[in-house]
Amino acid sequence: MGIIINGKTIAEKDNEATAAKVQNLIKNGHARPKLVVIQAGNDPASSTYVRNKKIACEKVGILCEDIHIDEEKDPPITESRIIGEIQKANRDDNVNGILVQLPLPKEIDEETVLNHINMFKDVDGFGYLNAGKLFSKKNPEPFGFIPCTPAGIIHMLDSISVPYDINFAGKNAVVIGRSNIVGKPVSILLQRMNMNVTMLHSKTSDEDKQFYCRHADVIVMATGHENTLTDRHFCGDKKPIVIDVGIHRGEDGKLHGDVSEEVKAKYSSYYSPVPGGVGPLTVSMLLRNVAIAAERSYLIFNND
Ligand code: GUN
Repeated sequence: MGIIINGKTIAEKDNEATAAKVQNLIKNGHARPKLVVIQAGNDPASSTYVRNKKIACEKVGILCEDIHIDEEKDPPITESRIIGEIQKANRDDNVNGILVQLPLPKEIDEETVLNHINMFKDVDGFGYLNAGKLFSKKNPEPFGFIPCTPAGIIHMLDSISVPYDINFAGKNAVVIGRSNIVGKPVSILLQRMNMNVTMLHSKTSDEDKQFYCRHADVIVMATGHENTLTDRHFCGDKKPIVIDVGIHRGEDGKLHGDVSEEVKAKYSSYYSPVPGGVGPLTVSMLLRNVAIAAERSYLIFNND
């Protein structure tokens, strides 16, 4: 049976460190760090995520303003309205982080919108400048932001490498899904850990999926589809670490990942459960990025 990597416990520790950083900033005269979350549209899953982010911010002492452009009560949703809200938050010195909840309604160009966020407040790390910094040989910090879910995945792998004596260098990582939010950035971060990275996606044949997964030491699942891997994708003797980014509400009313908990437990050495795996780490990495953004603004304005 694979060992569960408990994302909730790791995130709780991260949040304690972020809360201490926030207290320290305030003790040193900084205004309370603030995040602005912009939600355009009425997607129910997005409303849940925004609500959870707000609650998490409050727990660590970060202010969170939630700006909702409601497509039923206050239509229409336009690119210029969203960009207008971003520009207001860019100009406000009390705002340290700006997040536009994705997905945006399909008529809105996501890339155009995201690239209006000031790079120093782009705590999701989705803008061109932060994305470009991922390609730099240097670690993007202290001046960049790494997207929260990929950062959480790497943090998860780091959390098991020391206690279980796992050396990732030269190991085979398979990433399934090539989104800008997860698949692409996490593939770069895995390469930085000196892993051999293979990217699979919706056009990969099932035969190839079986081949690569059976040779994998680490599998990152980010397809957004249930049961993407089943018994036939595992060979039985090689037991990979399976990190499951998917989250769907099934017909049974419960939350499920891209791979069933039974399959992960049966074939993996370690695996992230759903819920309670990557999700809490995405939030803890966001809070961490907001506190870092606040700390940087404090350093920039108090460097005498
Ligand atoms: N929607 C799903 N994941 C994310 C994320 O990490 N950031 C934003 N802004 N929207 C998302």
